[in-house]
Amino acid sequence: MRVIIEPDAAAVSNRAATRVADLIRRSPACVLGLPTGRTPLGFYAELVRRHREKGLSFSQVVTFSLDDYIGLPPHHSASWAAYMRRNLFDHVDIVPANTHLLEGGTEDLSGVCESYEAAIRKAGGIDLQILGIGPNGHIAFNEPGSSLGSRTRVKTLTPETLEANAPSFEDLDELPRLGITMGVGTVLEARSCLLLALGEEKALAVREMVEGPITAQVPASALQLHPDATTILDEGAASRLLRRHYYRDVEEAQGRLTRAAGTA
Ligand code: GLP
Repeated sequence: MRVIIEPDAAAVSNRAATRVADLIRRSPACVLGLPTGRTPLGFYAELVRRHREKGLSFSQVVTFSLDDYIGLPPHHSASWAAYMRRNLFDHVDIVPANTHLLEGGTEDLSGVCESYEAAIRKAGGIDLQILGIGPNGHIAFNEPGSSLGSRTRVKTLTPETLEANAPSFEDLDELPRLGITMGVGTVLEARSCLLLALGEEKALAVREMVEGPITAQVPASALQLHPDATTILDEGAASRLLRRHYYRDVEEAQGRLTRAAGTA
């Protein structure tokens, strides 16, 4: 896994937005997998800024959201569907029909999961899957113990995820106990994966993801199996990596190579 350590959250967001903007310019009809949570807020704000100020167009981009709660109406302010509209879709020129959301408000959840997998296949697969990480090492709502081959399905949320997500709910009785989520296997099929993490509260999960054994107890560790996975971290999230100095050396050496190739 490629590990990039940036000085702060703004630099992480900027670096991730540059990766996405480069992909969209190269391939305007690319397929993106998109996460929610606090971590990607700056990244979405940066994409919106580039749309407004630099003409970055989403007019052909196709998106798939990673997960959502079950039981919340899609317009509930804490639903991930509302989050995506509020933080990205309402501010760029994306075509609503190209934005796929995991709707957890219906009765036929296994039908929703199967159709989602089919829609990803029909779109030609996900080019770039962007991810966050839970403090317990989850990706999307794939909690510890999730099969590393899992597909889109319903998951019971752990107490630590409920606690981490509670601040989004004014009324804690409304906090759903279930989520609907792309599986770890679904995520691993993306052509590239990009995981963002901020702050010391993610440092242990990040270390287990990058340097620990591959285990269903840390679903993010499955990214070690992916041939093109990158994580962009701020100093806090990188603080417990044992080889963090080496990762910086690798990036510096890569930078020198790229600059040399540019001047050759
Ligand atoms: C949530 C979401 C994940 C997200 C993670 C981290 O429960 N299901 O997709 O990546 O937890 O969220 P945050 O960025 O708010 O720490």
